[in-house]
Amino acid sequence: MAGKEEVFVGSIDQGTTSSRFLIFDTAGEPVAVHQEEFTQIYPNPGWHEHDPEEIVRSVENCIEGALKIFEKDGHSKDSIKAIGITNQRETTVVWDTTTGEALHNAIVWTDTRTAGIARELKAQKGSDKTMNICGEPISSYPSATKLLWLLKNVEKVRKVYEAGNLAFGTIDTWLTYKLNGGPEKNIFVSDPTNASRTMFMDIRKLQYSDEMLEFLSYEFDLKKVHMPKIVRSADKEVYGKLSSGPLKGFPIMGCLGDQSAALVGQKGFEAGSAKNTYGTGCFLLYNTGDKPIISTHGLLTTVAFDFDGKPVYALEGSIAVAGSGVKFLMNNLGFSQASHKITELAESVPDNGGLVFVTAFSGLFAPYWIDDAHGTMFGITHHTERGHIARATLEAVCFQTKAILDAMQKDSGHELKELKVDGGMSNSALCMQTQADLVGIPIVRPKMRETTALGAAIAAGFASGVWKSFDELREKGEWEDV
Ligand code: G3P
Repeated sequence: MAGKEEVFVGSIDQGTTSSRFLIFDTAGEPVAVHQEEFTQIYPNPGWHEHDPEEIVRSVENCIEGALKIFEKDGHSKDSIKAIGITNQRETTVVWDTTTGEALHNAIVWTDTRTAGIARELKAQKGSDKTMNICGEPISSYPSATKLLWLLKNVEKVRKVYEAGNLAFGTIDTWLTYKLNGGPEKNIFVSDPTNASRTMFMDIRKLQYSDEMLEFLSYEFDLKKVHMPKIVRSADKEVYGKLSSGPLKGFPIMGCLGDQSAALVGQKGFEAGSAKNTYGTGCFLLYNTGDKPIISTHGLLTTVAFDFDGKPVYALEGSIAVAGSGVKFLMNNLGFSQASHKITELAESVPDNGGLVFVTAFSGLFAPYWIDDAHGTMFGITHHTERGHIARATLEAVCFQTKAILDAMQKDSGHELKELKVDGGMSNSALCMQTQADLVGIPIVRPKMRETTALGAAIAAGFASGVWKSFDELREKGEWEDV
């Protein structure tokens, strides 16, 4: 049982397929966790939506669930000093500022319905300038084309826009807004790690770029859309307080997009450190220090974190399909009911039997950026069995990681000495061995795997004074070779 003097930090981890609430002690170990899956909506091929209200409810349920465990274990909720938020990035929500009601389902980051808008934008305006301003190429992945689609195709959204009441937000913004009680408190903020995924933010100034807003305006004036104020990732004041539930009145003090949070949770504080998270997708972030590096090899420039007004940047290689490829084998092809069984199936064959699976279900992200690519299997013969397909699915992520790492070394001019990994697929020994063989450097995995949630807790913990320096945190946690 915890001593009275112990303090804790809460962490809301709102991911693509589930929400979670975790409570961490000062050693960075989770002492309570509750997770809830929510509905994945696929209305048309290539479309992927979430119900924004269901997301909020799932987060509230998780807070309640984890707190029950926490208190049952003898802890007092008053020992929770602050709450951090980490979230799936790019996913786009629009709402009416007068009512606080969402006007449409959220369009999820994986959704490719905007490939046509991206193509038109490139044809009309060229594709050269965006990388240098916002760090991203035009594609269906960032929030910008998703907002344009909603304006163009949903009458209700257009009407609210015309009335001057349309709010845009990524999931961090939506959650802080709703958890604070909506329009009454009107907490309307985003941190730079999330705002850097929209295409609207100037990557150097960490403010909205007039040039990008004009460039992306298409048929609409994006300056008429209410956009959240961009604030630091760790802050005592700006994120407000929970307005209901068992932690009513508890302050939110940190916010990081999930991939930035994983880098922080892996203690990737210094330039030159990197991590690869095998979640729904797979995202390799390489810390480049206080200067953004604009990629010439197909990577994105993103904000790693901004704890004190001195932003730290990262080069990012984004892979759209990782764990979702395994889920595809389970849910769509009926291979198995459990993800570890997919690894077992992959292990049942000695190699891929000549099968290559390009898992481009959401187009191809880094370093290729082909919005309209589709999933393809090559090399099917009479010899092909389910084990080969399982193996080729795991290998697809490893091959794309290799392409990203090569691009990263060209952009940064440095060779990575080791790769820190986390996320569901990093538990597969076969997958990690394949990855190590392909990249030729040691792969290390933290013993405490909740790195994404820990990253958000660290942001909130810095703001609330639970942790005071990177040094203090660096000593905590252990890694193992894989
Ligand atoms: O950019 C999308 C990313 O934030 C989603 O992460 O953990 O769902 O793969 P994840």
